[in-house]
Amino acid sequence: MFLRTVARCSFRWTTALCLLALVLAGCSPEHHPQTTLLPRGDFAKIADDLLDTTVRWALLVFVLVEGVLLYAIFRFRGKPGDPEPHQTHGNTTVEVIWTVIPALILAAIAVPTVRAIFQTNAMPGKDALTIEVVGHQWWWEFRYPEFNITTANELHVPMGRTVSLRMGSNDVIHSFWVPQFAAKRDVFPNRETRMWFTAQAEGEYPAQCAEFCGIQHGRMAHRIKAQKPEDFQAWVAHMQTLGSKPPGTAVPADAGPKYAEGEKLFTAKGCIACHSLAAVNAPKGLVGPNLANVGARSYIAAGTLKNTDENLAHWIRDPQGVKKGVLMPNLGITEAESQALAAYLRAHK
Ligand code: CUA
Repeated sequence: MFLRTVARCSFRWTTALCLLALVLAGCSPEHHPQTTLLPRGDFAKIADDLLDTTVRWALLVFVLVEGVLLYAIFRFRGKPGDPEPHQTHGNTTVEVIWTVIPALILAAIAVPTVRAIFQTNAMPGKDALTIEVVGHQWWWEFRYPEFNITTANELHVPMGRTVSLRMGSNDVIHSFWVPQFAAKRDVFPNRETRMWFTAQAEGEYPAQCAEFCGIQHGRMAHRIKAQKPEDFQAWVAHMQTLGSKPPGTAVPADAGPKYAEGEKLFTAKGCIACHSLAAVNAPKGLVGPNLANVGARSYIAAGTLKNTDENLAHWIRDPQGVKKGVLMPNLGITEAESQALAAYLRAHK
């Protein structure tokens, strides 16, 4: 009997500890980089500081109130045979105290909150880098008017220079969210919303559409590549070389035999109707993502698949199997054709 009780107790404790470990593992930012708790930019830092302030006050209130409650429970516990306690109704002093203290705490939270609202809604300075962000079902378009280049699903930003995002949508409402740099902000058709942030750490960070926008909302991810200013400039200079080229020209030196076949298929299969291969002077309003540097991206299909040759060919062959409902139709492309198209696109870096 005793042993059984001990066993049951230790089972409960083990379960509780395992659950706690699981919950805490979910908080570990190294394994879950899409976190707001590790800000890498000034905008996100403002929001994170606000959260810290609020949590500190909440913790103080919790400890004080629960402490007094526990003290009262144990100190004034009734015992059998105790007389009826003294009955009271109303106590002006206590009521004033428990009105004034919460009011002061709310004020202490409200002041930095209002300040943060104004800071994050302020317009960035004139030297900010303007980037136009366009939401599509289900990918993101990024245009850099200052450099006349366009890309998709990977937002390159220079460290230390504020970027000013001017955002809209091509179809439904999406929400642009860059957890470690800024906040969430909805994007709408025919209406511009704005956001800004300054990246303060180098690296590649995942981000995600944060407003339900159709069946592949969950696969509408993008990545932020925060680069040192010189690396960013080099990227821009490289992208500015990716203009439109007549077919057959500028074949890369290392292009395999499949490149030429892929190039023909890109036109013959109609890929060219929805995708531009030019980063410079890229046409607006195309249905599919710009592919000028698709070969250099970390992911394809808006964060759905790692950008390997195999995945690229698979995606081209069976987009509806990978991402059901996506606007890219299955075109009856054979395995060999998909490999040629992948080889052709891989050369676009
Ligand atoms: Cu776009 Cu959810």
